Amino acid sequence: MGLDHDNADKNREIERYIENGEFRINGEFKGKHIVSIEQFAAADLHAVFDRTQQIEAVYKEEPRALLARCQARVMVPLFYEASTRTDISFQAAMRRMGGEVVVPSNGIQFSSVYKGENLVDTVRALGNYADVIVCRHPDKGSSYEAAWALQLLKQRDITTSSLISGGDGIGEHPTQALLDAYTIIKYKGNLDGLVITMVGDLRNGRTVHSLSKAIAELGGQRVRITFVSPESLAMPEDIVHMLQTKGVDVYQTQDLSEVIGASDVIYWTRVQQERFKNNPEEYERIKDDFIMTPSVARGMKYSSIFMHPLPRKHEMGTEEDHLILDEDPRFVYNEQMRNGMFVRMALLDLVLNGNAT
Ligand code: NCD
Repeated sequence: MGLDHDNADKNREIERYIENGEFRINGEFKGKHIVSIEQFAAADLHAVFDRTQQIEAVYKEEPRALLARCQARVMVPLFYEASTRTDISFQAAMRRMGGEVVVPSNGIQFSSVYKGENLVDTVRALGNYADVIVCRHPDKGSSYEAAWALQLLKQRDITTSSLISGGDGIGEHPTQALLDAYTIIKYKGNLDGLVITMVGDLRNGRTVHSLSKAIAELGGQRVRITFVSPESLAMPEDIVHMLQTKGVDVYQTQDLSEVIGASDVIYWTRVQQERFKNNPEEYERIKDDFIMTPSVARGMKYSSIFMHPLPRKHEMGTEEDHLILDEDPRFVYNEQMRNGMFVRMALLDLVLNGNAT
């Protein structure tokens, strides 16, 4: 799990928690931690989408009507890695539902993290003050570790805090998958018969790991997923295997032209440069392999949609290319990004208030 290897006991205990299904949503969000899409059954995913639709509708009519939902609740964002959309959309979501957001005065680097405090101890401290902690950390598996630490405190009635992952290194990004799947369903109605193509850094991109799992849960045998990447950046084997076990038709290629014209959804990703610190030559070698430009876009189906979790860099061409692509109605990343706030409002509402409210 990429956790501290001196701590084998702790890791075994967390594995046991996962295997026993302790983190599963099982139809009730209240008080749950959100660390992986594997916690969600299809019905739980639909519960988030339904709540998102309701919240979006109320928001458009009368945004103030939502202010009571999270009144007197406190969210603490704990970001050890850079973020714009995830961080700010969560903060905006909490405030738009009347909740409070408390952040370290000068950023996380000036909290006790600066003194060398580990993640678990920091989360344990925040559990005393926050109803919900949104955490992004560079280590895969760290969200489980943080959630598990809170869970132990919960069992002793010391805290009621929930942990929501905003991304754990190259692991998962569950809330991004929620907004991505919501966006696909909004445009396509459902996933039946869709060919969904993911392109780029599928090894290190956590969004595609979570999204693949969400699609498998929602679409199962009725979807085809195509992975397009340089060989060294292929989707991890365990995820491919899991998709196949769920009956998803998976096709892997290094040749975009083979699949672009047959794809209903194209999900583009940035090569995650920050994951190549020990191998900058490899980054240089593959960074230009897949670049979306207006001329590549000509190969896309008229009815397709193009998504990107953003931020975008040169994998989306030049700034002139960006301007042209942004005008193309198939390029829906702006709507995708906007959906992020509504999905996070729904998730906060579900975790803090429960399914029945
Ligand atoms: C992504 C991430 O952080 O994983 N961004 C996001 O949350 N919208 C994608 C990326 O950084 O490439």
